[in-house]
Formats: sequence, structure tokens, C-alpha cells
Amino acid sequence: MLLERYLESLGSKAIAEALDLDGPRPALIRPTQDAKFGDFQINGAMPLAKELRKPPRELAQPIAEALAGIDAIEKAEVAGPGFVNIHLAPAWIGAKLTDALRDTERDGVPAVADVSKIVIDFSSPNIAKQMHVGHLRSTIIGDAIARILSFMGHEVIRDNHIGDWGTQFGLLIVGMREWGDETALQSDPIKELERVYKLASERAGKDDDFAGRARAELAKLQSGDQRNLELWKHFVEVSRGSLDALYAELDVSFDLWLGESAYHDALPGIVDDLLERGIAREDDGAVCVFWGEIDGAPKSLRKQKTPFIIRKKDGAFLYSTTDIATVQHRKRQLHADRALYVVDNRQSLHFQQLFAVMSLLDADMQLEHIGFGTVLGKDGKPLRTRDASGEVITLASLLQEAKDRARQRIDEGISEGRLRVQPEEIDEVSRQVGIGAVKYADLRQNRLSDYQFDWDKMISFQGNAGPYLQYAYARCASIFAKGGLDMDAISGSATITLDTRAEQTLGKHLLRFADVVYQAGATSQPHLICEHLYELARAFNGFYAECPVLDADGPTRESRLGLTALTARQIRRGLGLVGIGVVDRM
Ligand code: ARG
Repeated sequence: MLLERYLESLGSKAIAEALDLDGPRPALIRPTQDAKFGDFQINGAMPLAKELRKPPRELAQPIAEALAGIDAIEKAEVAGPGFVNIHLAPAWIGAKLTDALRDTERDGVPAVADVSKIVIDFSSPNIAKQMHVGHLRSTIIGDAIARILSFMGHEVIRDNHIGDWGTQFGLLIVGMREWGDETALQSDPIKELERVYKLASERAGKDDDFAGRARAELAKLQSGDQRNLELWKHFVEVSRGSLDALYAELDVSFDLWLGESAYHDALPGIVDDLLERGIAREDDGAVCVFWGEIDGAPKSLRKQKTPFIIRKKDGAFLYSTTDIATVQHRKRQLHADRALYVVDNRQSLHFQQLFAVMSLLDADMQLEHIGFGTVLGKDGKPLRTRDASGEVITLASLLQEAKDRARQRIDEGISEGRLRVQPEEIDEVSRQVGIGAVKYADLRQNRLSDYQFDWDKMISFQGNAGPYLQYAYARCASIFAKGGLDMDAISGSATITLDTRAEQTLGKHLLRFADVVYQAGATSQPHLICEHLYELARAFNGFYAECPVLDADGPTRESRLGLTALTARQIRRGLGLVGIGVVDRM
């Protein structure tokens, strides 16, 4: 159940009734700052004071009285200049949690009524270059957002807009001829392509003849030369193989892989169209959008001196041109309502300009840049993806290190008696813990801020870390195992009642889940789910320290098992929504 939405509707009805108004008014419900004032406050009396010419406190009084009669509300009282503080009724919370407990399909989270078709453009690395940490962030954050939105009931299309077209291919074609090693290309394609690309671009910098040959090969490729197309395809295919392995490790999938090359044929038409409509103009042979000259340009761009270039002087199209074509494809062919671009903050100017062009073209699509900050190393500087000897640290090796470190921690935990993992389960548990830790460290942050990559904090069974939450889940599961009970059976039979304070605190956390999921989806902020889960795990600890579960009797035992099951399921569901797995035993 969406709690705040429900209370808002109760509140606004109560306001209309109590004040004898012709229709409902917003209740302006907010969580209270401090639990001692209750759970929520209604601020809706304040703005009515002027209209009704009465002091807000006087208006708040009858509202509080109208609310006090409702079964969800235990107590409603006027506070401050004219708020109404409300305390939820434990019996009502218990009933709602029992509903959520029965709802094994959705854990009490309703599906949206208004379904949108949403393209999520994420990961999107460039062929022939190592994926960098920014691409890892995009992959992790984009996947989480896709999972959240599709669980809410939206129609989500995951699109990997890879950089598989452009100047690097001219260099690669001549470079491979000169220095290429087909065996290396098969065994570690991205590494080999990057090696050759580097040699070729260095050479092109000092050797005009070489640079000219690369440009000629690129032109041949772009005009459809069979041989070059085959070489290009080969490069893309081998790279695709190693990308697939990485995505499998991360448990990330895509519906589409429409890279830049997919839009190649549409580019000349786009430039013509923009010229015709007077959005772009020629300047010294190039075609550009000059923001200062455009009437409908957004304010933020009007002072933008450097134009948005859509065709270079030499006739080459750019990243910008492809992106315009991509939006049109998503609108016309995919019939999408929205597109989310999960890309590094550093590209924010690009997206501002792209979205402005699209609105000049009346694209009629909601376009959003879902930016994110930089990953920092221990020294506080952007994380280097090269080790001391200058070798690149690939993402694959980073994930391997995560698993190795997780295994080390797990081995320690086993020998100290803290963890119970069977020998045959160690591989799988290390994988879930290691990969989960890397993902969680990223997702627990507000995506807009930079964060520090710290192995020790990341792979920790204490504090706000992935393994801590996976452990919290396993602990709940172990209560059932210890009692010889089945979590699903309890979910079908238990009735939750909240008698003690610790049960009420836990119950109130559990009740907020649907709101948190919706808010995370609406704002593309997966960290809200992480925050909720961390608080939930702590509330569960408080409950478990005070309330015997297996040793309780009768309906109390059933209810506490129900709370435990719902906590476990919410942690599992919540972690699942951000792409992190759990294990039953740890
Ligand atoms: N390939 C780009 C890069 O690595 C990211 C692409 C993002 N998506 C887009 N439609 N521009 O920087």
C-alpha cells in the first residue's frame, strides 16, 4: 500500500468535512521530524487560513477531531502554529502488514495505474576501448533503475547504446594491418583493440600519411565498403563477446543493443532537416546549432558560446547527430514516452543541448539525463584504472578481486565461528557477496555525489554495506531453518499484531516499503531503497534483541514469525530491485 498517498486522501477528505468545504483540499502530509510528535503531520490547514479568514490553529482543531475517528489513526492532535500530528494505530498497521505478508507476488507494492514506456540508455561503452569505472557505474545504476521501474509495472526497454562507429575504426583498420595479432584479438579482444588503437593514434599524430590512410579507410567503411565492413563487424563481434561475459557476471541484461552504428543511415537526413528548419546553420563548412541565435533556446544555453556541432567540416557526423537520430527512433519506432540516459555528469552539457534540439524538433518525449559523480580512489582523486606499472585494471579483474576478497572475509568469518557457510557453497556465497558489495557501495550513495572506492568498507558484515544486508537476510532465513519452519507457509498463515514498542518500530519501517520503491522510481534514486533496507535491518536487530521469536507462544510467535518473514522478503526484494542477490545461509 502507498502509505502517504492513502493518508493524504484521508486527510484531504477530513479537511473538507471538518471545514464544510465544497471539495477536498490538499492535506500536505509529511513524515514528522521526530517520532515523539507522531508519525505524520498534516499541514493543510495553514494555506486555508487566508481563504477562510480564521487562524490556522482554529481550523486544525476540527480536522484533528475528524481524523481521530478513522481506524488508521490512533491519535490526532493540533501542534505548533496549526499542524495536525497523527499517530498511526498499531492494529491498523498490523492489518496492513498482514496484507503485505499474504501478497507474495508483490510484497504489498501496488503496480502503477498509468504505465509508461521507458527506454533506459545505460552502460553504453565504446568498442575498442576498455570500459572504465564510469561505465561500471552506469551499468549498475541503470540496471537498478530498470529493475525498479519495471517492478512498478512500467514497460521498460533496456538499450545498450554502444560506441561502435566513428573515427577509431579508421585507425583500427590500418593499425590492425600493421601491428594486429589475431590470436590476442580472439583471447582478449578489448585489450588487443585498445593496444592497437593506441599505437595507431600515436602514429597518426606524427605521421600525416598514416593519418590520411586511416581517414580514407574510415570514409570507405562509412560509405559501405564490403571489406572494411567485415573488419568492423569482426571487431564489434569479438568485443561483444567479452562484454557479454562481464554483463553475465554482473547479472545485467539488455533488450536492445542499438549502438551508434545503427543510426548511420539516418544522419544525413537529420542534418538536412535541421538546416531546413533553421535550427542549424553552416559555419565555415561545419553545420552547427548556435544557441545565441535561437529564439526558443532554453535560458541555460543562451549564453553558450560553443555551438552544438552536428556535422564537421570534413563531412563527418558526430555523437550529437547520432543521439538526435536515436531519440527519433525511440519515439517513432519504439513509441517510447520517456528516455533516461544514465551517463556520467561530465556529459551534462551534451544532454542539455541534445534535449533542447529535440524540443525544437517537437520530439514530444520526456528526456532525462540521469547523471552521476566520479569514483574516487583512496587518495581522493578519480580512481585510476591503471596499476603502478601502467597496466590497465580491467573491470573483469576488479570484479575478480571483489570475489577473492569476499572469499577471504568469508573464510575468516567461518574460522572465527561468525559465519556458517558449507564448503560447497563458498563459491556462490563469495560471488554474491563480492559482486553485491561492489554494487551496493555504488548504489547506497546519492548518485550525483562522488564516492570513494574502499575495499574494506565495501566488503563488510557491519555498517551500511552490501554484505551486512545479505547477512541480515540470511539471519532471518536461519530463524526459520532453526525452527524447522517454512517462510512461505508462515506468510500464508500468520497474522501480524504489534504489541511491544520494538515491534511497532519495525512494523512502521516495513509499512513504508511501497512508498520508498515509488519514490526511488520517480526520482531515479536507487539509494533510497538502500537507505530503507539499512534502516530496516537495524530495526529488525532492535526487535530481535528484545522480542523472542521461536521461544514465544501462540499468536505472538506466529505474529513475530510473520514480521521476520516480511522483513526477510523485503530485504530480498529490495536488494533484488537494485540488482543484488541473497543467499539463504551465511
Ligand atoms: N558511449 C558513450 C561514452 O562512453 C556513452 C553513450 C551514452 N548514451 C547516449 N545515448 N549518448 O561516453
